[in-house]
Amino acid sequence: MKLNNYINGSWQEGGGAEYTAVVNPANGETLCEVKLSGKSDVDEAVKAAKKAQKEWALVPAPKRADYLYEIGWLMKERKEHLAQVLTKEMGKVIEEGRGEVQEGIDMAFYMAGEGRRLFGETVPSELQDKFAMSVRAPIGVVGLITPWNFPVAIATWKSFPAMVAGNTFIWKPATETPMMAYEMAKIFDEVGLPPGVANVVFGSGGEVGTAMIEHPDVRVISFTGSTETGRSVAELGGRHLKKVSLEMGGKNAVIVMDDADLDLAVEGILWSAFGTAGQRCTACSRVIVHSSVKEELEQRLLEQMKGLTIGDGIDESVKVGPVINASALEKIHGYVEVGKQEGAKLLAGGRVLEDGSLKDGYYYEPTLFTDVKWDSRIAQEEIFGPVISLIAVDSLDEAIEVNNSVTYGLSSSIFTRDINQAFRAQRDLDTGIVYVNAGTTGAEIHLPFGGTKGTGNGHRDSGVAALDVFTEWKSIYVDY
Ligand code: ALA
Repeated sequence: MKLNNYINGSWQEGGGAEYTAVVNPANGETLCEVKLSGKSDVDEAVKAAKKAQKEWALVPAPKRADYLYEIGWLMKERKEHLAQVLTKEMGKVIEEGRGEVQEGIDMAFYMAGEGRRLFGETVPSELQDKFAMSVRAPIGVVGLITPWNFPVAIATWKSFPAMVAGNTFIWKPATETPMMAYEMAKIFDEVGLPPGVANVVFGSGGEVGTAMIEHPDVRVISFTGSTETGRSVAELGGRHLKKVSLEMGGKNAVIVMDDADLDLAVEGILWSAFGTAGQRCTACSRVIVHSSVKEELEQRLLEQMKGLTIGDGIDESVKVGPVINASALEKIHGYVEVGKQEGAKLLAGGRVLEDGSLKDGYYYEPTLFTDVKWDSRIAQEEIFGPVISLIAVDSLDEAIEVNNSVTYGLSSSIFTRDINQAFRAQRDLDTGIVYVNAGTTGAEIHLPFGGTKGTGNGHRDSGVAALDVFTEWKSIYVDY
């Protein structure tokens, strides 16, 4: 099967286009092929989106929201199918696939509700017989660039607020995971969204992403992906005076204090470090542990890691699936070698897994380093794989300092039974998301999602904050 673009409410023909294979990372099987679009496809999509936006902006926001309810219901009906597609093309275990689709469903209903709010302000004027108010105005055509690690959820965090606020969009999904975008385009089509409101253009960042950023009629770029690519998006976007929203990497830590419930901490660490095989921007890749419980925590982690079944995530019993591709494996293993050279002690893992059926996929053994120096490369750089670095500290102040020492600021967590420590931590941890007595992943869609420092540029996905990306404030004065 060949996946083609969805533009102006129609599926494009492939013509003489180039395609690339979409591969199941669990077993190397080719699932389909996807079009590698070029600038002319982007031009066509933007033209359609620009034309549609004029009409779409005139549809009352509660009526735009009604489409989101329809989309949410269809996603709910197809939840299992969508989760299966997601797990096949991306590799995360099916339980997480279902969780991700649910995030998208939640976002549909949440943002549909916002269509009935979209609040502006009225303020008393300084002058007599003058009325002063502000509204959230749509911006126009927006470009959405989404990553492979959350092929559907992140797309919904961007496209749903964009749509409900009266914008039309061009969505470029990652070339590794176009099947979810294809499924979503089918849903957009079936609910009867006016042609041109939702457009999906497949292809590489270099071609399609660049063409979107450079296009004069694309007014906003919302990007989630690596910090390296985000920097290029920001640079190019800056040159073209685009509003650019960036959500990039993380180097997230779980802090375990001496009074923590260690069972709870182990559960939180395992789920957030090895879920999605560590390929989440929110993944826990550092554990900052009070030295008085370090050995106990190491033992408990090692014990639990033995029970993690690794394999094709479509199998319900599997707990850790593959990573996305061969270059991810190489990068992860490269960092493990760096860790050894830096003098960290490898307690578990550290291998590419190639036994039996695993040899056809891309599997890395869940890995635990201890005695890691806070300023070493494995404790500072994003690995994006199932690797934990344990760092010992002697106080909460030191834990917070170590947490904040990285250039990223997405998610952090603290396990403690002391409410005073918990409140001090939530105040002083320099991250966009803080968890108390839970791991670093699992953020819900009703609060802002994003981070400080190298993680973002001040914008947020999700929650009402997402509307700030996709609306302009317009102030209106009426004299009477
Ligand atoms: N909701 C996902 C997480 O927090 C992105 O990891």
